[in-house]
Amino acid sequence: MTSPGSSSPRIPVVDLARRAAALEPELTDAVARVVRSGSYLFGPELTAFEADLAAYTGYRHAIGVSSGTDALRLSLVALGIGAGDEVIVPAFTAVPTAAAVCAAGATPVFADIDPDTATLDESSARAACTEHTRAVIPVHLMGATVDLDPILELAREHDLRVIEDTAQAHGADHKGRRVGSIGDIGCFSFYPTKNLGGWGDGGAVVTPHERVADRVQLLRSRISPVSSCVSGSTSTKRGVAPASTTASPVAWNV
Ligand SMILES: Cc1ncc(COP(=O)(O)O)c(C=O)c1O
Repeated sequence: MTSPGSSSPRIPVVDLARRAAALEPELTDAVARVVRSGSYLFGPELTAFEADLAAYTGYRHAIGVSSGTDALRLSLVALGIGAGDEVIVPAFTAVPTAAAVCAAGATPVFADIDPDTATLDESSARAACTEHTRAVIPVHLMGATVDLDPILELAREHDLRVIEDTAQAHGADHKGRRVGSIGDIGCFSFYPTKNLGGWGDGGAVVTPHERVADRVQLLRSRISPVSSCVSGSTSTKRGVAPASTTASPVAWNV
């Protein structure tokens, strides 16, 4: 393809149709199955995908949501994080990391990145902690993983929840463990250009914490009023236990 008045070929930044072509028969079969089933929301295809994702990450619960942004937002709301709370995010990330914090009603506080990895710098995150800090969102960016051990230690010291933004790092490992299944919650995006891109928007939350999973499940499905199951008991630094370095589920301790 050439642009008008130019003989140089135009190379698209991304060619999603080319990627889809390789999987087209399999994917159109799956679409046809859904169309024929009449089950267009929360159907068996989603349940099967959630089970696969849970097994892949090693966390007990995987909940499909409408986007990576919603995965982050609903995770925060499920943890009872909102107005008056601060959440540390890296200054270098995609806009939705911080936008999701605002959408949950909390305040994003930016910490710097490590110049070598371009991911969240622990000492800058530590300096950003205040008495209002409730969570930290390390972002595994462009497949580069955050060094999570010092972040987990910081979270333990300050009683913070760790929400891994794994929108850009499906399948990446950190010291032998799959990212997204190291903190309290992992948030995936299936936006078409991602490592695992869908034909449309999509996202998922993975967590070992049953109460978080239950709340995200309620929040994603328009069940109202959600406030009775989300607010109140988690309005202070309580809720799930701090992130553990093991994959075992941590008891909810509200
Ligand atoms: C680092 C990061 N976090 C969150 C998101 C949000 O994902 P989505 O586009 O599915 O809402 C993206 C996608 O652009 C991202 O790159």
